[in-house]
Formats: sequence, structure tokens, C-alpha cells
Amino acid sequence: MKKIDSISEMQKISEELRASGKTIAFVPTMGFLHEGHLELMREGKRRTDILIASIFINPIQFGFSEDLDAYPRDMEGDFKKAKNAGTDFIFIPSVKEMYPKTFQTTINLKSITNHLCGLSRPGHFDGVAIVIAKLFNITRPHIAIFGQKDFQQLAIIRCMVKDLNLDIEIIGHQTVREDDGLAMSSRNSYLNSKEQISALCLKKSLDLSIAMVNGGVTETLKIKSAIEKLISTHSFVEIDYITICDPETMEDINIIEGEALLALAVYIGKTRLIDNCLLNA
Ligand code: PAJ
Repeated sequence: MKKIDSISEMQKISEELRASGKTIAFVPTMGFLHEGHLELMREGKRRTDILIASIFINPIQFGFSEDLDAYPRDMEGDFKKAKNAGTDFIFIPSVKEMYPKTFQTTINLKSITNHLCGLSRPGHFDGVAIVIAKLFNITRPHIAIFGQKDFQQLAIIRCMVKDLNLDIEIIGHQTVREDDGLAMSSRNSYLNSKEQISALCLKKSLDLSIAMVNGGVTETLKIKSAIEKLISTHSFVEIDYITICDPETMEDINIIEGEALLALAVYIGKTRLIDNCLLNA
């Protein structure tokens, strides 16, 4: 696995790979890699000749009061894991080169960001969109793989790729979970042992909603209040949002007809965790 920290070098390598007929998969990450990230990488490697992954803690997608400085880091551990998962090139740019003082451009997606995490984290998805657009232009992939754990992020990337006619296939990969059901996340490392138990309320909420819908309940208010009740039996938990919405537009829905997205964000102590699942009525 080759480590590349220069934008021009990465661009040159990608261009040469494309010119020689190789297909490229790209997996962007913010590091502190876990099995969720590694599964995305393995999927990329299965689908193409060359796998490029990136590790870049993107400052512009963090709000002022968020955990940018505290965000967990383990570069050396990440290199080993990425290599074992089949990564050919790991791109690790500096903030200085990604966002020089002259940087001016913004990418703002409209209504799709006015829901779920977009409301709780103003500006977050603008930061995600710009860094992904830049990383796509630098790594020049044929396909890029994103986790469904960040469902709204995946929807936003798909929308941006379509709107800007980017010639990249976006692949969503299912959420990878711990044995106890907790969705893997770099932020799980913030949880103490009691909080880890409380964090199970996320997956339990998803299971409860699926059972309710399978049992014939389609009113989203009923499902949401059952989740609230379930969550209230767990300590240290504060709900940010519980939303049942259209999986494409992220618009709220009242009655489930066909496919709907249940998305949750909760604080476990100071740690904000998200999870989601599709509901089918
Ligand atoms: P990060 O949180 O590091 O996640 C990188 C990728 O891994 C994302 O596509 C995310 O959805 C996926 N992922 C995280 N946990 C997962 C899990 N448990 N199962 C499956 N996939 C999972 O998301 C970001 O970084 C950033 O916003 C980024 C896209 C890199 C832009 O900065």
C-alpha cells in the first residue's frame, strides 16, 4: 500500500491508472478505522482493480461546538488495517493543501439537507459535499462506496453526483454492527461501559419499529412514541431526533405506504450517535 499526501501526486497516479485501463474504487474516511470502514474497502477491492482510500478529518464539516479536536486518531493502526483490507493507495492530504487561504467555493444542497442531521448540524453537509467533490476530482474513481449508516450523507452524495453529472457510480453498503447490534462508529470509542449499554437503545428502536410495521402499524406518530418510550427506559440518553421520512427526499411522512426511512440521532452522555433502517409497509 502506497501512502500519498500530495494532491498533485494522487491526481497523477489516478490519471495514469485510468489511462492504463484500470478501474478504481474509492472509499473516503476520517480514519480511526473499524470493521464498518474495512468492509467498504473490501467491497471496493472486490469490484475494481485498484482501491484508493482516504483518511482526512475534514474540519469544515464540524460545527464550532463539535468534536473536531477530540476526534479519535490512530494513523499507524489505520495504515495496517487499510492495507490488510486491500487498499492499494491511501490518500492522506493536509488541511493546508485541501483548504488553502484562497479557498472560496461552497456546495450547498437545498431541501435534502433541511432534515435530520442537516437540521441538527447546520453546514455539516455543505462541508461533506465540498470535501467529497474535491476527493472525487483528486482520486478520479469509477465507483465510490459509502455506508448506509450515514443514510442522509449517502443520499446527498448521490444527489450531488447526479446534479453535477459526475461520472461515478455510488454504492451504498449496509451498516456493519457489533455483535450486540450497536452500529460501528469511530465515536463509539467515547462511550464508557455504562453508556455502551444505553447505546443499545438505538438498535432496539430499529427492531421495535420493524416489528410494529410488520404487525400492521403504519402511523409514524405511533411508532415514534413507542421509540420515545423505549429510549426513556435507558440512562444518559437524550433524543436529538426520531424521524420517519421518504428515503430519497428526507421529507417527513405520516403514514407508511411502501418504503420509509427511520432515522435516529441520540446523545448518549456527550456522544452523539446515529442509526437508521428502512421500513416496508
Ligand atoms: P467516517 O465517519 O469515517 O465514515 C467513512 C465511511 O464509512 C462513510 O461512508 C460511512 O457511512 C461509513 N461507515 C461508518 N460506519 C459504518 C458502519 N458501521 N457500517 C458501514 N459503513 C460505515 O462519513 C465520513 O467519515 C465523512 O463524512 C466523509 C464521507 C469521509 C467525508 O468527510
